[in-house]
Amino acid sequence: MHILGIETSCDETAAAVVESGKRILSSVVASQVDVHHIYGGVVPELASRKHIEAIVSVAEQALQQSGLNRSAIEAVAATQGPGLVGALLVGFSFAKAYAYARHLPFLGVDHLDGHLCSVLLSDTPPSFPYVALLASGGHTAIYFAATIGEYELLGQTRDDAAGEAYDKVAKMLGLGYPGGGVIDRLARSGDPERIAFPRPYLDKDRFDFSFSGIKTAVHRHIQSCGSPLSESEKADIAAGFQAAVVDVLAHKLLSAAEAKQCRHLAVVGGVAANQGLRERLGAAALRRGLKLHVPPLSLCGDNAAMIAAAAYHQFQDGARTPLHADVYSRHMRKIQ
Ligand code: KG4
Ligand code: ZN
Repeated sequence: MHILGIETSCDETAAAVVESGKRILSSVVASQVDVHHIYGGVVPELASRKHIEAIVSVAEQALQQSGLNRSAIEAVAATQGPGLVGALLVGFSFAKAYAYARHLPFLGVDHLDGHLCSVLLSDTPPSFPYVALLASGGHTAIYFAATIGEYELLGQTRDDAAGEAYDKVAKMLGLGYPGGGVIDRLARSGDPERIAFPRPYLDKDRFDFSFSGIKTAVHRHIQSCGSPLSESEKADIAAGFQAAVVDVLAHKLLSAAEAKQCRHLAVVGGVAANQGLRERLGAAALRRGLKLHVPPLSLCGDNAAMIAAAAYHQFQDGARTPLHADVYSRHMRKIQ
């Protein structure tokens, strides 16, 4: 079964064609990073407008690159939420119109479900049950995945998302938006032990996170240095910050695996691209006899292949979304 997926929840216009929830025939992502970079974050109205400009050609490219005849598309799916409402509406309305014009079933997909499905598109997907860390610019949470589409929320951030903290620290260091990749790279040349930023584990037996304290500590440290910061000071701050975030994320995921007695772990979302986190978890998993699963880099950030994959499983369960359905900005699906 071939599904055309559309994703426009934030600042990436994406379309993909996926076969039977597993094989990616095409995946096109048009990033708006250049537009938002100078503002140090995503400007919602600009994002909506850029999606409008890009959506038709991105969808056309995905259909063409799939090598399929248009009549081979059997359903259309789009991200319904959470995300920026104006941005979501562009992809959601486009997908509805496409489905309506071609008399195809339509599916609204939760963005977080999409991220959780991204790891199922990798060559070595985890076996159920597993625990998954979803860390992106908007969310940071740990789930117990009992089976496809059945996720129990074990804990989540009480304030900033991990990616958001990366973006804010990058802004403080004058590194632009988005900050994750830049800090990850800069951290490699810094000393992670020179500046000890706090590790907020909160209740050690629970799986909630808090990143605002680390971010504030970085801010105070920068103020105490006086400006301008040298390149090596910036690298040490990046390394110290990354070490603190990675320590907390890794600790919580490994504790969740232990609590739920899972041998398989997954990390998904934009922050799953983080080399420091991948290395730390990879080494810890090896020591403990666990199996770590991370999607390829192209599926960590926002993309439409994960949306088409999640839609496939929903479709198999009989789900269909009516054409009068609306988008939602905050999380409101059955994931508790
Ligand atoms: O999943 P995603 O593309 O969009 C959301 O759903 O939010 O995640 C974007 C986030 C941004 O905050 C970005 O800074 C972060 O993922 N990110 C990273 C890395 N690459 C992207 N964070 C840490 N390390 C990275 N290498
Ligand atoms: Zn995302």
